[in-house]
Amino acid sequence: MLRYSTCSASVLFCTLALVAGFAVYGILVFFLQVGYMNKDDTLMCLSGPLEADDPKVLEVLRNKYLDPPMDLPYRPIMHAMMNLGKKSHTWPWINHYIKLLFSGHRDGFFIEAGALDGVYLSNTLWLEQEMNWSGLLIEADAINYEALMKRQRRAWSSPTCISSTRYPKKTIFVSHSVRPNSQIMISPWSYRSHGHELDDDIDQSDFDADYRSYSEVQCFPLISYLAALNVTTVDLLSLDIQGSEIKVLSNYLSSSSGVYIRVIVMEYEYDNMDVYFMTKMKHHGYILLAKEMDYIFVKKRDRILQRPEVREILRFTTKRAALEASKNSTPTSNSSQR
Ligand SMILES: *[C@@H]1O[C@H](CO)[C@@H](O)[C@H](O)[C@H]1NC(C)=O
Ligand SMILES: *[C@@H]1O[C@H](CO)[C@@H](O)[C@H](O)[C@H]1NC(C)=O
Ligand SMILES: *[C@@H]1O[C@H](CO)[C@@H](O)[C@H](O)[C@H]1NC(C)=O
Repeated sequence: MLRYSTCSASVLFCTLALVAGFAVYGILVFFLQVGYMNKDDTLMCLSGPLEADDPKVLEVLRNKYLDPPMDLPYRPIMHAMMNLGKKSHTWPWINHYIKLLFSGHRDGFFIEAGALDGVYLSNTLWLEQEMNWSGLLIEADAINYEALMKRQRRAWSSPTCISSTRYPKKTIFVSHSVRPNSQIMISPWSYRSHGHELDDDIDQSDFDADYRSYSEVQCFPLISYLAALNVTTVDLLSLDIQGSEIKVLSNYLSSSSGVYIRVIVMEYEYDNMDVYFMTKMKHHGYILLAKEMDYIFVKKRDRILQRPEVREILRFTTKRAALEASKNSTPTSNSSQR
């Protein structure tokens, strides 16, 4: 009895001592490390966000957020509604222009942001399959990205979003999908294509079967991706990112990255185009080639502009813009200018 209680007492004592020892050690290590880390992290944060081309940013992007092109056969992709989308939206219009600008142009490089599943309303699949292009597909929505990976496209892909700021950041991303049990006759991908940053919400009130979910997504400035992939010429940049297009392009124009982007296709769902943005594009040598619901810009003096059919389109667009400008200017402003 006595021996037993002594023993259990000493065992208890030893256990307690051991636990206490570990606890003290743990707390010490925790405070030392966290203390140091916090100090470093805090100091780093105080100096401001990391630059788009900071080596640390590029390393993380390369190692964690870029999946290499797949050298495998494409997966068949026919889900029933796949062709529905091709008649809607502005896909036929954009596709027409991409073929007109780039048929016969092999081995180019594209960036498509808002890549969706890599097939539905894809602006770049034709270039990749028929013209042997490579490129980068950016898709922030996790479910879309999973589908994209299954298609086995021969381009880089990234489960991120292009930052609307000039530095990397995390953002809340809003995904749209069709409500379960909805009877709506539209491709689910059409809904899934409306994901956007929380801050850049656009009115989707026409989406009566809309179901929203939220996730945290890492974003990088456009030039971070290009630097990480060592790309200096982009033949086509296709932006369909539901609201942050202007910010993304403005940041690119303001950077001195030395990257040359030849053609930009930009979705624009608002009624009135930002005049300041258009002036900035012009100032940086981008010519508006065509506009519908979307805008197509070409860099001034690009060899594409030497094609007769492209010159013809440009003439038409320029004439129409001049006509619209004269219609919009009020008699007072007209007379005051003269
Ligand atoms: C396609 O492009 C790759 C480089 O991206 C090149 O190595 C290959 O030869 C090209 N294939 C054809 C058929 O042009
Ligand atoms: C880009 O260049 C860096 C440094 O030269 C290299 O480490 C990296 O692998 C290259 N990345 C690609 C995608 O070519
Ligand atoms: C503006 O002035 C020009 C010439 O002064 C004239 O031809 C044109 O019709 C005027 N436009 C409007 C909208 O009044």
